[in-house]
Amino acid sequence: PHTHDDVGWLKTVDQYYYGDRNDIQHAGVQYILDSVVDQLLKNPDRRFIYVETAFFYRWWKRQSADVRRTVRRLVDEGRLEFVNGGWCMSDEATTHYSAVIDQMTMGLRFLNDTFGPCGRPRVAWHIDPFGHAREHASMFAQMGYDGFFFGRLDYQDRSRRRIAREQELLWRASDSLTPPMADLFTGILPNGYNPPEGFCWDQSCDDPPIRDDPDLEDYNVDDVVKRFLAIANTQAKVYKTNHIIMTMGSDFQYENANLWYKNLDKLIRYVNGRQANGSRVHALYSTPSCYLQELHRANLTWALKTDDFFPYADDAHDLWTGYFTSRPALKRYERISNGNLQTCNQLEVLGGPISRNGPFGKGDSQTMKKAMAVAQHHDAVSGTEKQHVADDYARRLAGGWLRCQVLVSNSLAALSGSTAERIYCDKLNVSVCPLTESSSKFSVNVYNPLARPVSWPVRLPVNGTSYKVSDAEGRSVDCQVCVCVCVNRGFAVNELVFQARAPPLGFTTYSVSLLRDGPPAASTRRRTPTAIQNKVRPPLCLCVLVLQFLRVTFDPDTGLLSGLSNLETKQTIKLTQNFYWYNASDGNNSKSDQPSGAYIFRPNSSTPFVISRTAKTETVQTSVLQEVRQWFSPWVSQVVRLHGDSRALELEWTVGPLPIDDDLGKEVITRLDSSIQTAEYFYTDSNGREILQRKKDFRPTWILRQSEPVAGNYYPINSRAFIKDEVDQLTVVTDRSQGGSSIQNGSLEIMLHRRLLYDDVRGVAEPLNETSALFPEGLVVRGRLLLSLDRPPTAADAHRPLAQQAVLQPTLTEEGEGACGRWSPCLQFSGLQAALPPAVHLLTLTQWDEDSVLLRLEHQFQSRESKENSRPVTVNLQKLFSTLEILGASELNLSANQWKDEMKRFHWTPQTGM
Ligand SMILES: *[C@@H]1O[C@H](CO)[C@@H](O)[C@H](O)[C@H]1NC(C)=O
Ligand SMILES: *[C@@H]1O[C@H](CO)[C@@H](O)[C@H](O)[C@H]1NC(C)=O
Ligand SMILES: *[C@@H]1O[C@H](CO)[C@@H](O)[C@H](O)[C@H]1NC(C)=O
Ligand SMILES: *[C@@H]1O[C@H](CO)[C@@H](O)[C@H](O)[C@H]1NC(C)=O
Ligand SMILES: *[C@@H]1O[C@H](CO)[C@@H](O)[C@H](O)[C@H]1NC(C)=O
Ligand SMILES: *[C@@H]1O[C@H](CO)[C@@H](O)[C@H](O)[C@H]1NC(C)=O
Ligand SMILES: *[C@@H]1O[C@H](CO)[C@@H](O)[C@H](O)[C@H]1NC(C)=O
Ligand SMILES: [Zn+2]
Repeated sequence: PHTHDDVGWLKTVDQYYYGDRNDIQHAGVQYILDSVVDQLLKNPDRRFIYVETAFFYRWWKRQSADVRRTVRRLVDEGRLEFVNGGWCMSDEATTHYSAVIDQMTMGLRFLNDTFGPCGRPRVAWHIDPFGHAREHASMFAQMGYDGFFFGRLDYQDRSRRRIAREQELLWRASDSLTPPMADLFTGILPNGYNPPEGFCWDQSCDDPPIRDDPDLEDYNVDDVVKRFLAIANTQAKVYKTNHIIMTMGSDFQYENANLWYKNLDKLIRYVNGRQANGSRVHALYSTPSCYLQELHRANLTWALKTDDFFPYADDAHDLWTGYFTSRPALKRYERISNGNLQTCNQLEVLGGPISRNGPFGKGDSQTMKKAMAVAQHHDAVSGTEKQHVADDYARRLAGGWLRCQVLVSNSLAALSGSTAERIYCDKLNVSVCPLTESSSKFSVNVYNPLARPVSWPVRLPVNGTSYKVSDAEGRSVDCQVCVCVCVNRGFAVNELVFQARAPPLGFTTYSVSLLRDGPPAASTRRRTPTAIQNKVRPPLCLCVLVLQFLRVTFDPDTGLLSGLSNLETKQTIKLTQNFYWYNASDGNNSKSDQPSGAYIFRPNSSTPFVISRTAKTETVQTSVLQEVRQWFSPWVSQVVRLHGDSRALELEWTVGPLPIDDDLGKEVITRLDSSIQTAEYFYTDSNGREILQRKKDFRPTWILRQSEPVAGNYYPINSRAFIKDEVDQLTVVTDRSQGGSSIQNGSLEIMLHRRLLYDDVRGVAEPLNETSALFPEGLVVRGRLLLSLDRPPTAADAHRPLAQQAVLQPTLTEEGEGACGRWSPCLQFSGLQAALPPAVHLLTLTQWDEDSVLLRLEHQFQSRESKENSRPVTVNLQKLFSTLEILGASELNLSANQWKDEMKRFHWTPQTGM
């Protein structure tokens, strides 16, 4: 018996909890928990599993001591069992490992704090997510789970596995960890997560109840038992052991648990009654962990799997690859929020208790932790929720950040000694920051959450034309004022750009003063090769950008990117880039009536339309920055940008509002076409961590019948993707999760934005047609891709740190004039004694309780990917922090709910004996 309670989907998480807005969907989690607890007490054989701690926590808070005692007893006796136990059941395609680990930690900690060891889930349970990531399996293994169950996989994969009896397998989920560290026993449930056909006894179902009084009409026990035995026998044939599992429940079921349990009691009694007549079927109330224990006891060997379960198709033309990109602004906001949360957590530790209650009032990191945990749900960051629910997730993140801002201000005040008010310019992506626009003197604090120094371009909207910028030591810094490329919403005329260098896990301060107001800065040389306006080439071809490390060329006739060179490694590739849109299928199609929607990507044709063959361009060249601005259409533009000391080329795209006046849904991609010989291979990351190899029209574990040549080759990109041959590797680092593929030799495409006019009939019942208050005519989205060109053996040394830097961006705060005297702790601070070695990433530093902190250090390189950095590293904890003294340390599992030395997992044997 189980219920699947989405932490937001058609209704918000709170509406689901209370059972509000039952006009949208009848669902109320509080009633489910009330009712299940009552029903469990009526028969000690009954069992129930509960999954989503976000809901259980809401319910527990409101229970009396009596009820709590009862529930504790049910948990101790194994009648109520927690499975999975994270705050939510996370999405696997669009989440970043760092946020997943945090949300799991939060849920599991609550369970341990509340129920002790009996509350610790033994089984991971992702019955609904739309495809499964290898990195999730690796994390679950490192969190101490004995096994994992899920419901959805490709329909072709499923039918092959049924025949081969490989619906239960051993997933070897890491290239780097020595087996069995990342081995996870994985079971695929027989019927998604629904009950067998004809056996749904929830109030939301219409199946006949068991009518077992022979005196009444329609006695049906014989029929029910017969049907059940037939299903059990069929199911047993496609699984390996004498034990089979049936999931008795579904979405938001058990609100009136009596219906389910009354019929299940009878079913079990009548089915087992047949044993007297020779039946070999024994039915019992059970849980996934009891079932897993029996599988373990069977002592069999299991098929080994080393790839992942993407993409997921539930039919020939129904590829769930659209949600890799759906709601790109929410996906970006979730990613920024993760960075903000890590900054908030770190500063809470570094600043001490005064951070939570200091000169700026009371702040906390909890609100943000919860908002982020909820946002990991498989209908949250995935973009598959209704619009009002997407708004609710964003509102929660914004609320969390507000509480964090107070904390961050308090902490920075404690660390710097300056209590001047700090301004958070959260709208820099649309070039809005009233303070920098209006002040003639201000300072900029750059906090770097990474454990190594970073150099980062700061871009601030300003109205003046000339500024002086000095660093914490009073040295003047190269800076440039450029004409702002606004999204037509900001009011600032110019943008001030300089390169900030921030110390590890610390901050530095730059002071800025206005030198001159007036017309556009003279130092900015602008030329306009106007490919669209006229065919005449400008006298001086400004079709090359060169700075220290990179050289970028443009085709003077089209204005498009044409080549990229790495000046250090002396590599050059041909590289063109352009923007295209796929015509979204409307469902009127002879092959299938599936339209493109929030979940599904289904282009009407495999050939996308080019948005424009040429771009109108404008060039800006200064000593700190060179850029080519490209306009492709009124709704697609881009800035190709080289920063002073950066080894990556930045492509800042702005897409939207996608026009729909032609009544066609559009899925916009950018495609990089290179001279690299890819031979149909490309590479994508799994949840931002390990890299997986992909091959066009190919799945490593079965012979694929490809029926969607584009959508069937899309994979999730969380933080990066690359293509390579013997000599060149082109890596693209993204700033949010997106879908992408390599459809042609040498090319890599990334889907940036989607606007669709039809619902894709997976339940959300809305077309993905986003607008916002700022963009009522259709959402405009801006983002960044970072391109790096390297030799394959050293490419990881470049893209690992680049990707971490894209996830954990510095936090900027601005202060008014003269806030701080010229003393160095005030202007500059590092929480570390020295930067960590390049292979080590400081993943978590967060306050755990009054006098302990949770610290996670991660080896961020995969084995064999870097000659230099893939080796083991030793870190001396005693010499780690500059202001914290470590008195003792104990090692935990990945989710921090079990001491490492108490962690014992089932051992499973793969078929190959490896
Ligand atoms: C067992 O079989 C006998 C003889 O066919 C029948 O009378 C009886 O009802 C059966 N019992 C059950 C529990 O099915
Ligand atoms: C499991 O099987 C192996 C070989 O098939 C055998 O050596 C081992 O003793 C068995 N273990 C148990 C607990 O039955
Ligand atoms: C900056 O200049 C623009 C254009 O002159 C003006 O509309 C805007 O109000 C100015 N912003 C500030 C904060 O002064
Ligand atoms: C776009 O696809 C729709 C069907 O989904 C089709 O009716 C229409 O003709 C296509 N338009 C173009 C320009 O290809
Ligand atoms: C999409 O959104 C626009 C702007 O709100 C609206 O005019 C249009 O009717 C919507 N189309 C659909 C199919 O929802
Ligand atoms: C700018 O960032 C905010 C979140 O900070 C996001 O909501 C908004 O959509 C972004 N705007 C664009 C144009 O991408
Ligand atoms: C789990 O909770 C118990 C108290 O219920 C505590 O003693 C134990 O240390 C906790 N375990 C971890 C790993 O925090
Ligand atoms: Zn769900």
